[in-house]
Amino acid sequence: MSGRPQVAEVAKPAPRRIALLGVGTVGRALLERLRALDDPRLPLGLVANSRRRLPLIGASSPRAWPDALAQGEPHDGSGALPGLAPGDIVVDATASAELAAWHPRWLRQGLHVVSANKLGLGGPLLRQHEIRALATDGRHYGDAATVGAGLPLLRTLRELRAGGDRIGAVVGVLSGTLAWLFDGYDGCEPFSARVRAAVAQGYAEPDPRVDLSGEDVCRKLLILARTAGYPLEQAEVRVDSLLTPALAAAAPDHVDAALAELDGPLAERAARTARDGKVLRYVARFDAAGARIGLEALPADDPLAVGRGCDNRVAIWSTRYRDRPLQIQGPGAGAEVTAAALLDDLLRIVAS
Ligand SMILES: NC(=O)c1ccc[n+]([C@@H]2O[C@H](COP(=O)([O-])OP(=O)(O)OC[C@H]3O[C@@H](n4cnc5c(N)ncnc54)[C@H](OP(=O)(O)O)[C@@H]3O)[C@@H](O)[C@H]2O)c1
Repeated sequence: MSGRPQVAEVAKPAPRRIALLGVGTVGRALLERLRALDDPRLPLGLVANSRRRLPLIGASSPRAWPDALAQGEPHDGSGALPGLAPGDIVVDATASAELAAWHPRWLRQGLHVVSANKLGLGGPLLRQHEIRALATDGRHYGDAATVGAGLPLLRTLRELRAGGDRIGAVVGVLSGTLAWLFDGYDGCEPFSARVRAAVAQGYAEPDPRVDLSGEDVCRKLLILARTAGYPLEQAEVRVDSLLTPALAAAAPDHVDAALAELDGPLAERAARTARDGKVLRYVARFDAAGARIGLEALPADDPLAVGRGCDNRVAIWSTRYRDRPLQIQGPGAGAEVTAAALLDDLLRIVAS
């Protein structure tokens, strides 16, 4: 007998499979990243859009999935995902309210969840509480892509609180689209033309009212505020929408024509703001006194005014950052950075 110690064979745990729901701009960018990374710890097991899904057929490479999906089996868009087992990871790359309601159910089933969908943590407060309560004991809920597309915003708030800080206030430019629209806007060019350019270049949603209504920013503010220890419901946030009543009510075919309604009032406001040496920014803020979102005139050297393009900018006041806020700034929109944030969360889960 040799003197070498006998080492028992330990069975390797099966790789966690990933179910990707949503193969739009963000979902496709994530597939590309998974393909480039080619990490055996991240096998894709299911890909679905709202109409088709490819069922679990064992671990397989991301390369095969996007084209095959068109030949997948019919899917009703539900969150019931047969074949998944505890330990598997559901990635929600949709904006579906129906799927957001599944987030707590998936966690209860022992699945991990990684979401770009803001309606999970930014929907009803009760759901956010459920998710936070369930994402324990080895079950993970990845939220890095929901606000700031992976900028270290939620993580920082959590770490500050874990270190004993109380968050006093958060103020930010949270919409990359609205940041882009107001970057350099002086009222000379029609605002509607900027909105059309933003849609054409993919910065804004196909229906730009999703951005202009402040609804998307409100979801992000709710997620930030709740993470910071402010249990706000949507009704408690004062949202000053950029939409006029007619634009808000316009049928999809008439939105483009109705955009011109914004031109006069916003040009006037931009001119007045420029005369005061200030710039317009769409700002979200909360503190102990309340939460509000709307267009503000800021001094040109205000930290929230100096970012460029689609940058998100956020200032955080807390116990340790009492006099001068902690500031976080960087690209906070776009499929690439959002997909990278989803992948970061996936890697954190498989490394846990
Ligand atoms: N685009 C960005 O730059 C960006 C940045 C940050 C965060 N996000 C967030 O990321 C999410 C996805 O954005 P996106 O731009 O990729 O949207 P998108 O291009 O409109 O794609 C949405 C995808 O979700 C699918 N889907 C919708 N309902 C579904 C359901 N019930 N079950 C399965 N799939 C469903 C759609 O399928 P069908 O084609 O069948 O409808 C489509 O594949 C959104 O929550 C968005 O707010 C996006």
